[in-house]
Amino acid sequence: MSAKKGWNIISKDYQASVRISLDDVHYGPMAPGERELQLLGKVEGKDILEIGCGGGQNAIVLAKWGARSVGLDISEEQVKYATNLARKQKVTVPFHVGNMEDMDMFADESFDVVLSSCAIGYSENQGQVFNEVFRVLRNDGLFVFCVMHPIALRGRLVRYGGRRYWGLGNYFYRGRRLWKWRFKEKVAEFYGYGRTFGDYFNPLVTSGFIVEKILEPKPYPLDKMAESEMRKIPYLDEGDLKEYETWRRIPFTLIFKARKPAKQDKNS
Ligand SMILES: C[S@@+](CC[C@H](N)C(=O)[O-])C[C@H]1O[C@@H](n2cnc3c(N)ncnc32)[C@H](O)[C@@H]1O
Repeated sequence: MSAKKGWNIISKDYQASVRISLDDVHYGPMAPGERELQLLGKVEGKDILEIGCGGGQNAIVLAKWGARSVGLDISEEQVKYATNLARKQKVTVPFHVGNMEDMDMFADESFDVVLSSCAIGYSENQGQVFNEVFRVLRNDGLFVFCVMHPIALRGRLVRYGGRRYWGLGNYFYRGRRLWKWRFKEKVAEFYGYGRTFGDYFNPLVTSGFIVEKILEPKPYPLDKMAESEMRKIPYLDEGDLKEYETWRRIPFTLIFKARKPAKQDKNS
């Protein structure tokens, strides 16, 4: 099953179950958002594209903050949800159906910022995504994205000596990984792609980006948070809360902040 088909099947139930903020740009489960991390700089008046935008929450927040934001997602159902949500939130955000590996619908150098949250890990041809992002960014433009950290992706909970640990499987496995998402009778199966830390960093550089920051935020201090605050965290479910002692010891999200050089060297 393709990612498109899979997300079309689960979009409605997925959106009903996740708690993605309409008050902050998020960088994945248990990671602080843009208000704290300040990766995007001043967004007011900027042209910002979110790729793999899902229900459009990040693009909508950016529009509320004064950006001219645009969203792109491969799933028609996710885009439908995003379009309705933008209407309800009273902001104008054009949402497009398309593949982040081929963004023909956008002209060269048309955005100041490209953002992506928890979506690039589903792209088969990541090098092509980075080339496309580089193309649509203006000189000096920013590319900020987060993916599930390879340590979180490659591991699983194990018991040892009465304690629970995050056991790392094969860090170097680069094949496809089948994701199976089940919401009652609806099941979606699609692939994510195994990548090491270097598999993100090096292709960014090959595409021409300067990597300015790499963040591996510590998960939220859930043990010190009020129930009401916890309930605002995207994706967090009862299972995660139960396993918090384990999650707090590993990085869940990996964030890159990269920049297209201000002026391209003609010989490069
Ligand atoms: C886990 S969701 C994240 C959505 C959103 N960024 C968020 O944080 O809620 C991943 C999204 O990536 C989209 N996606 C997967 N592969 C894609 C591709 N090749 N091009 C564009 N979108 C894609 C899916 O349709 C899905 O909406």
